[in-house]
Amino acid sequence: MNAQENNIDSSTLLQTLEAEKQRRQTEDKLRFYRPYPRQRDFHDAGRTHRERLLMAANRIGKTQCGAAEMAMHLTGQYSPWWKGKTFDKPVRAWAAGVTNEACRDVVQDKLIGPPTRRLEWGTGFIPKHCLGEVSMARGTADLIDTISVQHVTGGWSQLQFKSYSEGRPKWQGVGLEVCWLDEEAPIDLYYEALTRSNETGGIVYCTFTPIAGLSEMVRLFLHEGIKI
Ligand SMILES: Nc1ncnc2c1ncn2[C@@H]1O[C@H](COP(=O)(O)OP(=O)(O)O)[C@@H](O)[C@H]1O
Ligand SMILES: [Mg+2]
Repeated sequence: MNAQENNIDSSTLLQTLEAEKQRRQTEDKLRFYRPYPRQRDFHDAGRTHRERLLMAANRIGKTQCGAAEMAMHLTGQYSPWWKGKTFDKPVRAWAAGVTNEACRDVVQDKLIGPPTRRLEWGTGFIPKHCLGEVSMARGTADLIDTISVQHVTGGWSQLQFKSYSEGRPKWQGVGLEVCWLDEEAPIDLYYEALTRSNETGGIVYCTFTPIAGLSEMVRLFLHEGIKI
């Protein structure tokens, strides 16, 4: 092999490796998640607390933190640094936002990828190779109702997208291991989510900036909780 061929080979190899690195960074984002100290404290607290609230200013990384934690429970792919709650089996989970649209544009976007660009599903925190069967919601374009996520055990977790605007009757139902509420929820829905996870020893965690002052949700955590 002459020097020119060698050059071509090494540059092709470099390109292939670069492409693979790029692919992993976009389609296996979870592996690259490094929490800020406050996010890490929040994750760690899950080991000992079934109920958690990450209350902070806007753009601090609340949704990011909630989505990364959800992806770890769904896939069972806990990072080497993880000290939070762990499940050793596939989980049933809810991820909720205020309205269907907010859930789709914020929560679904962070977990799955851009809602309107299906070719890019798999660029959120749930790795592309773990995405399974999808059932779409009715009445809101591009909103996923339920998606199966491959768990490290070989089984499938089930993630359902929910919104507070659906109202309480739609929040009653089966047991859940994990429930993530992104943005402040009406207290009755919070208790409904808690009830769903009581029987399973599951967790409920919330991520929001309080915009309604001392709401019942805020009071619950401030008065009855432990600040970390
Ligand atoms: N641990 C992190 N590492 C790198 N970037 C982060 C991290 N957490 C948050 N970010 C960045 O901050 C931006 C805002 O985060 P987001 O979770 O949407 O904020 P919030 O929900 O608090 O308004 C994200 O789009 C992301 O780019
Ligand atoms: Mg947010």
